[in-house]
Amino acid sequence: MCGIVGYVGERSSIEVLLGGLRRLEYRGYDSAGVAIVTPGNGLVSHKRSGKLGILSDDLGHNPLAEGHTGIAHTRWATHGGPTDENAHPHLGDGGKLALIHNGIIENFHELKQELLAEGEEFLSQTDSEVAALMVGRSYREHGNLTKAMQEVVSRLEGAFTLLVVHQDQPGVVVGARRNSPLVVGLGEGENFLGSDVAAFVAYTKKAMALGQDQIVTLRSTEVSVITFDGEPVEAAPFDIDWDASAADKGGWSSFMAKEISEEPEAVANTLRGRLGDDGLVALPELDALIGDGSAINRIIFVACGTASYASMVGLYAIEKWSGIPVGVELSHEFRYREPAIDEHTLVVSVSQSGETMDTLMAVRYAAERGAKTLSICNTQGATIPRESGAALYTHAGPEVAVASTKAFLAQVVACYLLGMYLGQARGLLSTKESAALADDLHKLPGQLEEMVKTGPRIQELARWMADTRSVLYLGRHVGYPIALEGALKLKELAYIHAEGFAAGELKHGPIALIEPGQIVFVIVPSPRDPMSLHSKVVSNIQEIRARGARVIALAEQGDAAVLPFADEVIPIPLTSTFMEPLLAVVPLHIFGMELAGAKGLDIDQPRNLAKSVTVE
Ligand code: AGP
Repeated sequence: MCGIVGYVGERSSIEVLLGGLRRLEYRGYDSAGVAIVTPGNGLVSHKRSGKLGILSDDLGHNPLAEGHTGIAHTRWATHGGPTDENAHPHLGDGGKLALIHNGIIENFHELKQELLAEGEEFLSQTDSEVAALMVGRSYREHGNLTKAMQEVVSRLEGAFTLLVVHQDQPGVVVGARRNSPLVVGLGEGENFLGSDVAAFVAYTKKAMALGQDQIVTLRSTEVSVITFDGEPVEAAPFDIDWDASAADKGGWSSFMAKEISEEPEAVANTLRGRLGDDGLVALPELDALIGDGSAINRIIFVACGTASYASMVGLYAIEKWSGIPVGVELSHEFRYREPAIDEHTLVVSVSQSGETMDTLMAVRYAAERGAKTLSICNTQGATIPRESGAALYTHAGPEVAVASTKAFLAQVVACYLLGMYLGQARGLLSTKESAALADDLHKLPGQLEEMVKTGPRIQELARWMADTRSVLYLGRHVGYPIALEGALKLKELAYIHAEGFAAGELKHGPIALIEPGQIVFVIVPSPRDPMSLHSKVVSNIQEIRARGARVIALAEQGDAAVLPFADEVIPIPLTSTFMEPLLAVVPLHIFGMELAGAKGLDIDQPRNLAKSVTVE
């Protein structure tokens, strides 16, 4: 999704703007541009299709005039292909105004006809240029940039974050947002805007999120916020809990490699301060929403992709520990089936970015129908947690690679904390059970360190399989969502067919896929598993091996039953049923990354994908 940066202050704005875009590259884009209001040369701007390096090279050879007010943009094409003309910023008021946009203006066609009828000329095929010309038209009438923005946003439909600057207004950037993120960075004698805090965390760790349908007027020493209707807003600032170095690769070959290495820390940080050794869970941020849990008779998770698989793992634990029926629904399906929900339903959204439009719309749908809404999110101040009844933040730190890794583990742990919290509140989880779970959870970071060390062996496997065209993943119970997650990683990173199945489903069809040489990863439950799923899965392995499959088993250290039937065994430390998924997923994350690497693909920014899907 598009990256947005705005700046007003004493620095040379071009450094701030390009640096901000670099920190937002992970969002996925196909063109980039900047616009600066200069003291003596009016408004200057430059934009190019392609990666940021192309724009930077141009500016290196032909630098823009200096200025202390500017906006910058990386575009992920929606209307109109990735060309120089379609890149942002777009100009208005005869080139005196520049505008950048994230989102989709759904009624742009009728607005464009109106502008064409007035003789306006369009240089691009984008919906965004409509907004630039409209703000320019309003500004010409009264010379007030904030008022011009207010007039225009009242006519726009859809999702948008807009930033504008005008050469007659040096020292001012005006921004507006609806259904698309925008955060303010609060500095000393300077202020920033960004689609997320990564845009300016190098300069300030104090931020302020803008709410729905709000307009911000940014000056170097003053930030004022109003609603689209002009009502003043007092937005609460917050402190960013990570620093710029965390958003750098730190010497790793890719952000993904760095973030996999941080999986143990992500779990430790998400647990920190929330789980006593006695197993009692403290989540004061949930007390007002959930209380003793007695008013909740149903829980529905809404999420997409990897976040939905974390929710599926959570389902098993929360239903077992709390006794509350739990369902998991894909956000983009949820509201279109018109679910029967009410004030006794707790809708839990899971989202790393907190900006996934499908999930945001599902949360709004649920809230409109009286459901309680809880956000499990990794991004402070993001739209989904701000629009939810309560937020349970994961503390995985910034996740830059498009393929989600450490956030997944943190999401599962957050689900477990929620399940224990509910079970304890409802008196269904005993002190003994809680203490045992706490013990297992506190052991996880150390055990995860062991799993991260399987990297070299997994890299060898990946190199051996670099030409494979299909990989299957089997799991059972909480291993089933891990099979789905492993398959998704391979699809999104190595661009090959991969599919996850519930192991019990094999005989109902998928076993027909097995032919000699078919690679199958199998997540094997512990032989100490009280539900005796272990023997069933070992039987599944025998069935596929008998048909020529090449089996890579993720199995508990010392599990002798698996050895005769697996071509490769990746050992997992001894642990309990609910902890195994968190350990088994690490080699699958590494495998997806290494296979992509073996194929020479872009690990951090896979083709066609964005880190946060902020359009439906
Ligand atoms: C996961 O690797 C993918 N990048 C994708 O499935 C992602 O999990 C999904 O788009 C949800 O994103 P969110 O957690 O930011 O809502």
